[in-house]
Amino acid sequence: AAVESAPAIVIGSGYGAAVAALRLGQAGIRTLVLEMGRLWNTAGADGKIFCNTASPDQRSMWFKTRTEAPLATFLWLDVVNKDISPYPGVLDRVHFDNMSVFVGRGVGGGSLVNGSMAVTPLQSYFAEQFPTVDVTEMYGTYYPRARAMLGVNTVDPAWFESTEWYRFSRTSRKAAANTGLKTTFVPSVYDFGYMQREAAGTATKSALGQEVIYGNNYGKKSLDKTYLASALGTGNVTLHTMEKVTAISRAGDGTWLLTAQRIDDTGAVVETKQYGCTYLFLGAGSLGTSELLVRARQTGALPALDASVGTGWGTNGNVMLGRANHLWDTVGANQSTMPVMGIDDWANADNPVFAEIAPLPTGLEHWVSLYLAITKNPERAAFSWTNGALKLNWSAAQSAVSVSMAKKLFDRINSANATIYRYDLFGSSSKIFADDFTYHPLGGCVLGRSTDNYGRVKGYSRLYVTDGSLVPGNIGVNPFVTITALAERTMARVLAEDTAP
Ligand code: FDA
Repeated sequence: AAVESAPAIVIGSGYGAAVAALRLGQAGIRTLVLEMGRLWNTAGADGKIFCNTASPDQRSMWFKTRTEAPLATFLWLDVVNKDISPYPGVLDRVHFDNMSVFVGRGVGGGSLVNGSMAVTPLQSYFAEQFPTVDVTEMYGTYYPRARAMLGVNTVDPAWFESTEWYRFSRTSRKAAANTGLKTTFVPSVYDFGYMQREAAGTATKSALGQEVIYGNNYGKKSLDKTYLASALGTGNVTLHTMEKVTAISRAGDGTWLLTAQRIDDTGAVVETKQYGCTYLFLGAGSLGTSELLVRARQTGALPALDASVGTGWGTNGNVMLGRANHLWDTVGANQSTMPVMGIDDWANADNPVFAEIAPLPTGLEHWVSLYLAITKNPERAAFSWTNGALKLNWSAAQSAVSVSMAKKLFDRINSANATIYRYDLFGSSSKIFADDFTYHPLGGCVLGRSTDNYGRVKGYSRLYVTDGSLVPGNIGVNPFVTITALAERTMARVLAEDTAP
């Protein structure tokens, strides 16, 4: 096949990729973005682009025959998941031994499916995780730049206190306060002005209409509305969708060669394409970038990649759990899908945990307080390319570390409130902590180990990583603001030093 060439290619279109595409385009560098998922801009038969969590259809998940929502059951009943026909839907759940990873598929990557929580980590913890990065510059320049570009905003506290849609957060806050724990508001990229109009009945419901993990039709400032829209607006950026890069190698003249498979809506490969570029940016996410690099090293295509490539992977300590409230502590039948509050016990040196107060919108009162805990789990795993597939050596014992940290915190909350855990949410009554999935895959090409201090991959020139694989397995809060800010930092440096004529 003929090789299609561009000065720069960006693989993926999530946070790290979107930043790279915009900054390259603004610098006047012709850039091609290759994304394996769909462009989500066309309404289905119901007039909506995305489906909601209550009645998921084929648009919900990436080539599955049944949805695989994080909550398996409700009152032990298999009522949550639905049969669907295989289709390039927006949410994928990738299964490894002992751990499955949720990721977004489509133009915008994880921004299409995530909870919009836009959290900047504690400066001291960032410095601990990134000892070689100048924190003054990070917190003075790149975090503010990322937050501004992403459209971060905060819920109006007065509205929060009065609306039925956040009763679930207030009830969890009360339980935390009874335990002597601190709660904090969490910023978001969901437009709270829009949400208030949803509540007032003057705008079509999205966050208030059970839309989140399978996409939001309104209100959310996903990357296709922010960074990627601006990138395309430069006139220098082109986007190819439904094309999965499967191999990267280096040509004799030092340029990059890529193989990509274009698929159709059934998943069949309809074309194998070859691309060439001078500058290659990997933004395929922790899983995607790790796969491309580990595969290239193991197959001999890029033998000079560092031995650390594929290592340093972690779950950000994710654990999900539910508590059962007393009958008088209602959480409300109406719940916004966008979390706005967390229990912040990260300063507790014995057991650092940041627990997001998560919604469980079912349309009826269920008395469940749901949480996604981020624990300071130090366990890490490594990827390998084995028998033609990506493998991850995460063990159940490594998840147990997250559980014991979450349990310590929530045992305190239960004891202070005379409440218990919910036993009916995760498939079997012996399972009260969902420790077998993560929303926050991080690592695989860690900054300063597999790359230099700016995301330049060691062993090769003009090869860059800009996504979550740079983060060493844990960042203590929801990660997308950090991924975006690090990508801004990389692009500022690369455009100043590497691409100048
Ligand atoms: P990201 O995963 O966003 O993008 C990678 C893109 O590359 C995808 O579009 C993928 O399809 C594509 N790709 C992969 N391999 C490819 C290949 N070989 N060829 C072509 N394309 C390829 N974070 C947060 O901060 N706040 C929150 O509230 C939440 N909530 C949340 C909920 C849920 C359900 C999920 C799944 C995740 C979150 N997250 C989150 C996590 C957050 O979404 C995540 O950390 C970022 O999206 C990661 O950004 P990256 O740039 O690393 O890759």
